Parts: sequence; structure tokens; C-alpha cells
Amino acid sequence: MLTIAVSKGRIYKEALPLLAAAGIVPAEDPDTSRKLILPTNRDDVRLLIIRATDVPTYVEYGAADLGIAGKDVLVEHGAEGLYEPLDLGIARCRMMTAGRAGETWNGRRVRVATKYVRTAKRFFAERGIQAEVIKLYGSMELAPLVGLAECIVDLVDTGNTLRANGLEPRDLIMEISSRLVVNKAAMKMKHAAIKHLIADLETAAQPQE
Ligand code: ADP
Ligand code: PRP
Ligand code: MG
Repeated sequence: MLTIAVSKGRIYKEALPLLAAAGIVPAEDPDTSRKLILPTNRDDVRLLIIRATDVPTYVEYGAADLGIAGKDVLVEHGAEGLYEPLDLGIARCRMMTAGRAGETWNGRRVRVATKYVRTAKRFFAERGIQAEVIKLYGSMELAPLVGLAECIVDLVDTGNTLRANGLEPRDLIMEISSRLVVNKAAMKMKHAAIKHLIADLETAAQPQE
């Protein structure tokens, strides 16, 4: 049995064609089913439907053999406990700093709101900027508008969310896409099955590179 952890929404939707190309078709739709373990057309493959930020945890502990997670989530979690054999090229965006349009924070201190606390701290520390980082769980774009922070670290795709809130992107922190991650013990114990799946997904992901 291979257990694959994925999150609902954008990653699930974009991963479906890749999984299908690897011969894996979920038996139910996670948007309508309340099930958290989704069987597939293959008796030997099942999906776990979990929060995006929980994917590395399930895979690291071996509760899932494999997972699909954004690079943002992997960097923030710390990926030393996982193999990351494949860039699936889906859910692409950029992690950036942003602030109110026309404002700058060229000083040596800045207050930053983000859900990526570790990544943000590292980014500012590497630039010699003292950052006070405030942990949020969503709607980061609000923070600079109400004086919670001067700056945010968030994901940017079209830039529409920033623009709609009078913010502008500043520094690129990293390019983001979703990666296949694999539990280290499973990679040994289920080597043949996992190698096969990686090869199929790699072929399927190629045209999007
Ligand atoms: P969450 O509820 O954690 O925000 P999402 O489905 O929105 O879950 O995001 C899952 C992953 O998709 C993120 O970790 C990131 O890698 C990627 N992602 C998030 N927002 C965007 C976006 N606007 N465009 C492209 N990819 C995105
Ligand atoms: C993500 C991200 C940004 C937005 C960026 O939010 O957190 O707010 O997308 O995309 P854009 O540049 O194209 O506007 P998401 O849509 O995932 O909403 P949620 O995570 O707050 O539910
Ligand atoms: Mg989101």
C-alpha cells in the first residue's frame, strides 16, 4: 500500500492530471466527500486529505509514504527529515516581501507579519535587518493597512491580492512550486513502488517545466 498526503484546493486540483498520468484516479471528490482517506482506482494507493502545512509532518512520521507540498511549506517546516525527489511544477508562485505602496522601510528595524516565521526571520537576518516577526495564519495583506506591521512576507501570483489592498511587492524571497516528498524509511522499504511512481510523475510533470 502507498499512502500519499495531499491538501485540498489548488494543489489537489493541479496534481490530479499528474496522478492520472501515473494511473492513479481518486474514487471520490474531496470537495464533496467528508472522507479524509480517499481510496483510488488502485487497491495499492490511497490519498490522505490534510492541510497543506501538515503534509511534511505526516510524511516525516511515516503516516504517509509520500506527499505533495509547496516549497514554501517545506522550507518553513524544515525538510531535513524528508526526501524531495521531484519538482512537480504545479501551484507556482513567488514568496515575497510586500508593503504599502509608496512606503519604504530602509531602516535597520522592521515589523513583519507572516505565516512563514522561520523563513522571514532568516531572510531579514541574512540582510542584517532586525525584524520583529508576528505570526499570522492568513489574510497577511491586512496587517500593513491597520498598522500591525510595516511589511508582510506572503505568496504572490498575479499580484491581484496585493493591488486590491494598496500594497506592492518588494523583494523576491524565493520561487515556489509544489514538490513530491517521500518518507525516508518508505523510500527503502517500498523502493520499487516509489521509484516507479516518481518516474511516472516525472514524465507527467515534464511538459509544465
Ligand atoms: P492554504 O489553505 O494553506 O493557503 P492553498 O491551497 O491556498 O492552502 O495553498 C497551498 C499551496 O499552494 C501553498 O503552500 C503554495 O505552495 C501554493 N499557493 C498558494 N497560493 C498560491 C497562489 N496564489 N498561486 C499559486 N500557488 C499558490
Ligand atoms: C494566496 C496567497 C495570497 C494570494 C496571492 O491566497 O496567500 O493571498 O493567493 O495570489 P495573487 O497574487 O494571484 O492574488 P489564497 O488564494 O490561497 O487564499 P487563502 O490562502 O487566504 O485562503
Ligand atoms: Mg492559500
